[in-house]
Amino acid sequence: MHMKSVIFVCYPLFNVALCTIPGHYRIVGGHEASINEYPYQASIQFFGRHACGGSILTDRFILTAAHCFEEDYPSKVTVRVGSSRRNSGGAVYDVDKIYIHPNFSDVTYDCDVALTRLKKPLVFGPSVKNVALPSKGTIVADGLVAKASGWGQLFDEGPMSEMLQAVELPVISKDNCEIFYGHTVVSDNMFCAGYSFGGKDTCLGDSGGPLVVSGILVGITSWGGVCAAPRNPGVYTNVPAMTKYIQSIISA
Ligand SMILES: *[C@@H]1O[C@H](CO)[C@@H](O)[C@H](O)[C@H]1NC(C)=O
Repeated sequence: MHMKSVIFVCYPLFNVALCTIPGHYRIVGGHEASINEYPYQASIQFFGRHACGGSILTDRFILTAAHCFEEDYPSKVTVRVGSSRRNSGGAVYDVDKIYIHPNFSDVTYDCDVALTRLKKPLVFGPSVKNVALPSKGTIVADGLVAKASGWGQLFDEGPMSEMLQAVELPVISKDNCEIFYGHTVVSDNMFCAGYSFGGKDTCLGDSGGPLVVSGILVGITSWGGVCAAPRNPGVYTNVPAMTKYIQSIISA
């Protein structure tokens, strides 16, 4: 794996269970899914190996997380689309440019958004489709049921999934997520999703992947505590807060 290695960031005001593990996101407690149900799901691969999830925005741009690229900046990034499997099937595209949000912080994970531009345009089909972006200012409200998907770990510290997994997670707004992580940790550019009692979550290997409500991309899997543990909901980049930046890249 060329992802950032495990780095524990602990906030001393909280107990150990609230130490965050940036980059550690997988689907836990979900179900196997077909790429035809999630045709916007992409796998961002470093040297041919799955590293992060991504979402197809246009035939040339895949949205993912900025933290997927920090430190171990890869010389060989490819994107697999159109396959329910992370290591085979579908089609693999070369990347010719990576755009990292200029205000991304690898300390706070604020503005955890990046785009990869493909060398050649995607061929769309039943298993390869784009997902709609929300308009700027769309409120990602509490209780909306969001669909997360990816090939990440099936349980904390467990193996990544070979087959695509999906899970439904209720949105927890930034304000209501502060009870879990504190107001200095969850920024205006983030929201949470999951259950206070745990059980369902994203995890390592799901980073960069989509969180979709009613066909609209609202979140990018970013960070969290121990996967699927109580009081450790996943934290997602708020896509409506990033729409202006994303539009500026894909329409340039
Ligand atoms: C980055 O932050 C600065 C200062 O808050 C702001 O003016 C700028 O618009 C931000 N950049 C983007 C792309 O959002």
